[in-house]
Amino acid sequence: MGEYTTILTETHGKVGLIRLNRPRAYNALNSTLMRELTAALAEYDADPNIGAIVITGNEKVFAAGADIKEMSEATPVDMLTSGYIDLFDRIRAVRKPIIAAVSGWALGGGFELAMTCDMIVASETAKFGQPEINLGIIPGAGGTQRLTRTVGKYIAMEVVLNDRKLTAEEAARFGLVNRVVPVERYLDEALELAQQIAERAPIALQIAKEAVNKALETSLTEGLAYERRVFYLLFATEDQKEGMKAFLEKRPPQWSGK
Ligand code: HXC
Repeated sequence: MGEYTTILTETHGKVGLIRLNRPRAYNALNSTLMRELTAALAEYDADPNIGAIVITGNEKVFAAGADIKEMSEATPVDMLTSGYIDLFDRIRAVRKPIIAAVSGWALGGGFELAMTCDMIVASETAKFGQPEINLGIIPGAGGTQRLTRTVGKYIAMEVVLNDRKLTAEEAARFGLVNRVVPVERYLDEALELAQQIAERAPIALQIAKEAVNKALETSLTEGLAYERRVFYLLFATEDQKEGMKAFLEKRPPQWSGK
């Protein structure tokens, strides 16, 4: 892995773990951190020994949003030309599954980062919010879009227009997180989930992620047609032959990722 100053990386079996690490600034996502995060994600995405990725912060804070100090004097041209928000598209383009392990604050861009991931494991202390309205702006990295698609218009309006914070329990009720666990467990739980996923057939995994994401972008007719095409495509993989043979032979499959 490259040398990073604002994140820590470690591998756990087939899982790549990235810890956001600017604790004194509540893991505010400055441009260095976002560049390093996307670089580390690209490294894990390209590594055949890695099957899934976990992004986490610390117990107190996942990330408190974009770095307010860094952007307070910015012009629209600065915001555009920095390419800062485009980095979220790079996260979205990662082909391997990404799990956010969230404890404490996930605010603004931090909440948007969690929502850009594929699954969210939350500790009981997690608190989610889009407080941008307090700064005279709105969410800019998907907060008005991904949140609304998940929780619906009415709750999203309250979160985005009036800085309503969601507790972990509310987030679970609204379908925003996969599970809520005691704070001592949230990272292990996310790592275990990631490890299970990482053991699965790699090509099917990648196509499965793409197909679920497609559901958010297309009509049902187009989505079903897409699903059918990629379903047929998987019959060209060695893993499909192996998976079905292993089932019939009553043994665990050996995935080759081909
Ligand atoms: C820069 C931040 C920060 C941020 C916290 N800090 N959030 N610095 N950018 N987003 C810094 C504080 O300045 C302070 O530094 C230290 O972290 C601790 O913060 P405190 O406020 O003293 O802690 P506390 O009272 O416990 O409150 C925690 C908090 C609060 C609730 C998380 O810090 C807060 O509301 N932060 C801002 C959240 C926010 O508005 N996020 C949206 C940002 S805009 P010092 O040096 O004073 O100790 C955004 C837009 C995204 O995300 C658009 C595209 C990506």
